[in-house]
Amino acid sequence: MPVRSVGDMEVAGKRVLLRVDFNVPLDDEGKVKDDTRIRAALPTIRLLLERGASLVVMSHLGRPKGKVVESLRMDGVAERLGELLGVPVRKIDQVVGEEAENAAASLHPGEVLMLENLRFEPGEEENDPELATALARLGDIYVDDAFGAAHRAHASVVGVARLLPSAAGLLMEKEVTVLQGLLSDPARPFVAVLGGSKVSDKLKLLGNFQELVDNMLIGGGMCFTLLKAQGKEVGASLCEDDLLDEVKGLLDREGAGRASVALPSDLVVAERFSADAPSKMVGADAIPAGWMGLDIGPETVREFERHIAGAATIFWNGPMGVFEWDRFQDGTRAVAEAIASSSAVKVAGGGDTIAAIEKYGLRERFTHISTGGGASMEMLEGKTLPGVAVLESEQGQG
Ligand code: 3PG
Repeated sequence: MPVRSVGDMEVAGKRVLLRVDFNVPLDDEGKVKDDTRIRAALPTIRLLLERGASLVVMSHLGRPKGKVVESLRMDGVAERLGELLGVPVRKIDQVVGEEAENAAASLHPGEVLMLENLRFEPGEEENDPELATALARLGDIYVDDAFGAAHRAHASVVGVARLLPSAAGLLMEKEVTVLQGLLSDPARPFVAVLGGSKVSDKLKLLGNFQELVDNMLIGGGMCFTLLKAQGKEVGASLCEDDLLDEVKGLLDREGAGRASVALPSDLVVAERFSADAPSKMVGADAIPAGWMGLDIGPETVREFERHIAGAATIFWNGPMGVFEWDRFQDGTRAVAEAIASSSAVKVAGGGDTIAAIEKYGLRERFTHISTGGGASMEMLEGKTLPGVAVLESEQGQG
């Protein structure tokens, strides 16, 4: 179901309570190290300001667990937002209460106020109705652009959305439209490229993709649990032995569901986990005892490239190897470039995947790069995200 859009709201002269996901890395001085998530919310912020609204911006930062943590204050984030917008952003040290209400009440159209870190309030993660009510007093309408937090049923995501007229911001709308498109009506063949270290993080996704996609290409640390489940020796490679039976079940379903699973046929293995460890190329069934796989090999790359070239939709999550180290980055780079060169709908998500895309300068060549790691994974696992559901239904109309 589509979400209600900020573009359809009458916002002139209104105070908009805007939830964003500015959960960004800070340096030792509290300055923003990576402003990607702030930039991603700028179209919504600019739209609202151009249409004559004033803004009360709110976000969580880190996991302070209901307590004030000095290093997680929003000051540096507010400063960076002001620089990017070219308008001053006033930041207050409260989330709710008298000072916040006075500051919000004195806003004029075009002005921006930023609240303190939402997670300093114990009621935020508990979805406390009192906190939601106190937040609702700060705005006339509520707009949620925090896709990255949409899987959290928190007061600033769900509680307040039910108390005010509410809609999705442009980023939220785009994320939901693209990811729902993958789930409901993907152009085929649909190829999922999956990697990263742990298969345990991806079990639910694998289960859902088994029915949804046509091919799964699996590399990265997670492939070794699957290789071992096929009876191969994986040496000292990453392997989650407690999941072997479950993973076998997934592989057994090959043929019954839609997806075929392609695992590496060759690998770059190293003597130890180190950037300068001795390394060599081996077949996937010939990993020497005590050695560990740190990248996929060239034969695997060619096989993955062949699937990618034939795809009409591609979803990528997880690097193929330890791409941070030059000698083990070839598989990830080749796969990233193959996806970027494809004319398919190309969607990527996850922190390491985005880091790889940035490293190889390929950002502009993707159809969509999700800003929500956990949120995009949960959505593709087939879960209903509380922060999306509340913007779809009638209950968030205030
Ligand atoms: C994220 O970084 O994925 C979001 O901001 C959500 O953060 P959380 O996992 O701490 O809820």
